Amino acid sequence: MSGGARDIRRRARHQNDNSGDGPARTTFDKKKQSKPRQIRSALLIGLVALSTIALAILYLLYQWYLTERVRTQASLPKMLFPNSSSAEVDPLRFWGSYRSQLYFGMKTRSPRSPVMGLMWLTEFTNKMPPPLRHWCDQSDGLPKYGWTKHDGINFGSQAIEEETYTMRTDFVKQKGGLHGGEWTAKISLKEKNPEKPPTVSLLFYIALDSSSGSAHLEPVLTKKRLSSVSGYSDELGNFEVIFPKTKSKLQKHNYLISYLPRLDKINDVVLNGMKVDAWDSARTLPYFTLGGRLVGRDSPSPPNFMVHQVTAQLPLEMEIVYQSRSFIDRQSTLSGDIFTSTLNRFSAEFDKKFAETFNLESKGYKENEVTFAKATLSNMIGGIGYFYGASLVQSKYNKEPLEYWKAPLLTAVPSRSFFPRGFLWDEGFHNLLISQWNPTISKDIISHWLDLMNWEGWIPREQILGYEARAKVPQEFIVQRNENANPPTLFLTIKKLVGHMISSKDSKDQAFLKALYPRLQTWFNWYNSTQNGPLPLSYRWRGRDSNTVRELNPKTLTSGLDDYPRASHPTDQERHIDLYCWIAFASEIMADIAKSLGERWEDYEATARILKDNNHMDSLHWSDKKQQYSDYGLHTNRVKLERPRPPPNLNPGQRPPPMDQEKYRVIVSEPTYQFVNAFGYVSLFPFLLKMVHPTSPKLFKILTDLKDPRLLWTDYGLRSLAKSAHLYNRYNTEHDPPYWRGPIWMNMNYLALSALYHYASTDGPYTDMAKELYTELRSNIVANVIKEYERTGYMWENYDDKTGNGKGSHPFTGWSALVVLIMAEEY
Ligand SMILES: *[C@@H]1O[C@H](CO)[C@@H](O)[C@H](O)[C@H]1NC(C)=O
Ligand SMILES: *[C@@H]1O[C@H](CO)[C@@H](O)[C@H](O)[C@H]1NC(C)=O
Repeated sequence: MSGGARDIRRRARHQNDNSGDGPARTTFDKKKQSKPRQIRSALLIGLVALSTIALAILYLLYQWYLTERVRTQASLPKMLFPNSSSAEVDPLRFWGSYRSQLYFGMKTRSPRSPVMGLMWLTEFTNKMPPPLRHWCDQSDGLPKYGWTKHDGINFGSQAIEEETYTMRTDFVKQKGGLHGGEWTAKISLKEKNPEKPPTVSLLFYIALDSSSGSAHLEPVLTKKRLSSVSGYSDELGNFEVIFPKTKSKLQKHNYLISYLPRLDKINDVVLNGMKVDAWDSARTLPYFTLGGRLVGRDSPSPPNFMVHQVTAQLPLEMEIVYQSRSFIDRQSTLSGDIFTSTLNRFSAEFDKKFAETFNLESKGYKENEVTFAKATLSNMIGGIGYFYGASLVQSKYNKEPLEYWKAPLLTAVPSRSFFPRGFLWDEGFHNLLISQWNPTISKDIISHWLDLMNWEGWIPREQILGYEARAKVPQEFIVQRNENANPPTLFLTIKKLVGHMISSKDSKDQAFLKALYPRLQTWFNWYNSTQNGPLPLSYRWRGRDSNTVRELNPKTLTSGLDDYPRASHPTDQERHIDLYCWIAFASEIMADIAKSLGERWEDYEATARILKDNNHMDSLHWSDKKQQYSDYGLHTNRVKLERPRPPPNLNPGQRPPPMDQEKYRVIVSEPTYQFVNAFGYVSLFPFLLKMVHPTSPKLFKILTDLKDPRLLWTDYGLRSLAKSAHLYNRYNTEHDPPYWRGPIWMNMNYLALSALYHYASTDGPYTDMAKELYTELRSNIVANVIKEYERTGYMWENYDDKTGNGKGSHPFTGWSALVVLIMAEEY
């Protein structure tokens, strides 16, 4: 029970004293002699009844308080003013490609933004429904797509490849007016084989939804062509989205004016608004065109969705020009040659800044490698989305999930196709790279995340905000539970950002630290008090299922390393070394920030000192038997998955169990309390977070183990679980393939390189050993990721430990993009 709950109880008792027994006794005492007995008992009964009612009310209030607590905001000042993303305060970042899940879309950083987006369709197809590209989707099977340059502010350039043609989506913004400036996007398509140019439809839409308030759109038709849409919204004032005529010959134009009930229904509305036509008399295959005006102005649901379609044999170019009426002294329209020259200027500035920030040429990287690194950074930056909505959350006091408060989130995403939303522990890694490129954007992202903290100090780890985001997530993963943590990796970025702020006298830096600190305190406290372990200063992940009958090893989703083997039988007695290290890491940074602000730092430093004390750590987590750092818990290796067998002798009339029953877990030998002897990423944590003393013989053991190809070492990076481990590459249930049980993950390899770099530059007996490992591991990883990028067109979620092949979702330019920092040796 936490402090606040206790407070309310105390208050409850206090009120009872006043309204119930207290005054009653006085009355009673005074009148005792002069009043008959009946009155006394009546009074007593009345008082008892009153107190009971009061108690009942208090009880109900308390229950209500408990159920609401999970979605009560932290009672701390917000890091961000409500207007911080507005056009007035930050006009340059108001518009952006903040719809991460789309191949290309634009919106503002506002909950009430109109949204715009690109769809396209290769014509003359027999497929029904026609394969419309819109949301990034692996099943579209595009050979390649992704931002090649994106600076997070002024412009972005993306290359997309289809089977028979290539595509570019470029956009450029310009300052001016009162409502966050203007922008132009250009979509250019080119056929791969000039002998057989395909015919393609480009569709560009603008949409409002119920959140857009009094905003409205008005189509402008010129000779039956939708030449522009004018609109108005409170934030944007009057604006125009113009579709200039394109030069390509043989083009047709169509449009759709319709009603969109909700943002996740865009595809449905477009497909429903399509009809099949004949392109010309020679061609018989269907040509899909938009059906024109489907909803009249006076309809009860007036049109809020307009799509411009242009179809042509390639090559084809289309511009979309967004202009604000408040822009009165515009020199020239951002279009045609002016668009191109502005784009080129920003692009050159990007190259210059990239070279200064990462210095890759001076590290000997060749042109194709630098191009790869630019694209990888750009995808991280171009993947940054602006989401708005409420998570579904639940505590143990809630029978049903509740909506969290509605809030905005600016965040990068792990994968535009597969995970287009915010993940707490990913974000700490993402911002190592983002802050290197643009610390302002990182500070903004971190502030958004910390403002999602509830009263207890909890931050939901997966942020599924808004209908579009929810549409991408299976039902069972939507609800977030408040016992569950996730590694506090934001401290990785904060350490990097704060390093120079602590010494800087810049008032902006100091203001940021001052706003940051109270939230970090509450956050840290939440970890330190709710994720504690059975022994003093030990820690335990919550959220493991101790009743599982299907999982070989119950997952620890909260740790981020989902199926990495832990104790086979979750109990309250277990302790986790990775969480221990995260808290140690965080407490040290807390002490640093507290000192620089003149706040009380002593407790943080004391906690950091104990946790970093190798004797304390070893006593909790070093397994003498296996000579490695380990989790501790109720464990046996001897579990297996089996299909239920029919009973040996079926009685007459008894039916055998169905053969398709799922396999279940069988315990071959009973578990005992012991160190969990899997070797892999978790065992490395004291090394990964640089806690092992540089002279410790345990460091020697770890470095020796790192290099062993029978354990973690491969030619492509460090695998997640030793080849020798019992659960190496094993399915966790019949349907649950290995995830953190073999594949190579970039975030952990980044930490390993960072640690090797640290030990290689710290005096000690193992300096040279660390240096050697560092050099080899770094070149293995960089070479493999680039090779795979060039072979497949993508960055991947993880890499196969036997072949180096990219695996899992793609493009995955979340933490896999840390390879850019690895190339630049920025740790
Ligand atoms: C934004 O909000 C803050 C706090 O409410 C206020 O001080 C500031 O003037 C506002 N800025 C603008 C440009 O409206
Ligand atoms: C963290 O929790 C432990 C108790 O488990 C406590 O002794 C320590 O002071 C706490 N650290 C901080 C900085 O609050």
